[in-house]
Amino acid sequence: MKFVVLLAAVAALSSAASFPGKTEHYRGNQLIRITVEYEEDLKWLRNIEEKMNLDFWTDPSTIRPVDVMVPRDFTSEFKRMLNKRELYYKVLRQDLQDDVDNDLAEAMRALQKKARIGIQTLDDFDYSIYHPFDEIQQWATDVANEYSFVTKFKFGETYEGREIGALEIAAPANAMASDPKPVVYFEGGIHAREWISPATVMFFTGKLLEMYNNGDADARRVLGMFDLHIVPSLNGDGYVFTWTDERLWRKSRQPNPDFGCVGTDLNRNFDAFWGQNGASPWPCSIVYRGFTPLNNPETTAVDAHFQALKAAGRVTKVFIDWHSYSQLILAPWSYSSAAELPAESENQLAAAAAMAAAMNSTNSVAGGYIHGPSARLLYEASGASNDYGFASTPAATYTYVVELRDTGEYGFVLPADQILPSGEESYDGVIALLDYVINNDYD
Ligand SMILES: *[C@@H]1O[C@H](CO)[C@@H](O)[C@H](O)[C@H]1NC(C)=O
Ligand SMILES: [Zn+2]
Repeated sequence: MKFVVLLAAVAALSSAASFPGKTEHYRGNQLIRITVEYEEDLKWLRNIEEKMNLDFWTDPSTIRPVDVMVPRDFTSEFKRMLNKRELYYKVLRQDLQDDVDNDLAEAMRALQKKARIGIQTLDDFDYSIYHPFDEIQQWATDVANEYSFVTKFKFGETYEGREIGALEIAAPANAMASDPKPVVYFEGGIHAREWISPATVMFFTGKLLEMYNNGDADARRVLGMFDLHIVPSLNGDGYVFTWTDERLWRKSRQPNPDFGCVGTDLNRNFDAFWGQNGASPWPCSIVYRGFTPLNNPETTAVDAHFQALKAAGRVTKVFIDWHSYSQLILAPWSYSSAAELPAESENQLAAAAAMAAAMNSTNSVAGGYIHGPSARLLYEASGASNDYGFASTPAATYTYVVELRDTGEYGFVLPADQILPSGEESYDGVIALLDYVINNDYD
């Protein structure tokens, strides 16, 4: 049965004449990395970002390399402007359509190969390839069927009516566990194009359960002390759109009446310092905050989940929103670099350090994972998940945005051969983080 479903999905994807991508949307677009050394140059870039509505892959708000996707018609002019300003730049990707085509072709080849073999059980699930949205949902169903203490539940519905599946992992409690156990929340795929996020969340979830069944001490300890709530792919509409139409789509797919542009940046739409710095009031911006806080069904689903937990007297201890890219672990605050850090900051950063150290050591990934308070380390973003998780309904002390691989070589179009390494280091990071909480802040 599953085999048939998968074949149909592959056929639908490849026959939509849409493959690879409906249009040559990115033909001639270049990914350019600019070396920035002075604040005035950042300001100049931010001005261009606003005026030209360019898709900056790394935000021009701190002194670090800035990656920006430049449309084909603007590349020569843009380079002329950079030269005039004496800004050093490097073309990272010559033609993003080629990268996107290769990426989708590789994903389709992997899926077709798998369709020929057929998946019958969870054991056949291939964590080393990227999966379409329906397969992610099927994976959640299969996981719930496989483990008696795992339940799949409907987290919400996307704007286009897709069911957002979530897992509750409620293993038998350790003798030392609180009753009920504190909740750990992991969310993947809020930004559609960050494919490594759902892939990584699925991998470490699957590994944790398998290790638990094998009697592994780490997995037994962690699952005995916490209940895990896991949403592998929150922005289902956006994710599907990256497979069928625009590989580099970021936002939701909810239309904005009176404006031509579709979508909200769901990670600017949360009810936490909404509408302040680092979020745009303009619907065409890739960081559009939405018309009001939580006015997208996907963010509403997150909030409804935590309202219900709160009403039930459940404590949420950890909240991680998994993103890519840049290899960062970002603690509050996100909305302001000037705001005084919260009293919990010391613990948040110590736990993040434990996580980063573990993620560094697994594969010694180039560049490592850097941790720090979001706005100070990186850039200001209001209405973002890490402030929401900490300061709004979930009130989870250990709230982070984790930016996964890489540091810019491939950016959002990360080859599938990096899924397993990303998953392995994230697994180690999760264990280290949860152990920090168990040892230092568990009641
Ligand atoms: C992780 O690796 C990076 C790069 O080497 C380093 O800067 C950072 O301090 C490391 N983090 C920890 C907690 O060891
Ligand atoms: Zn993101």
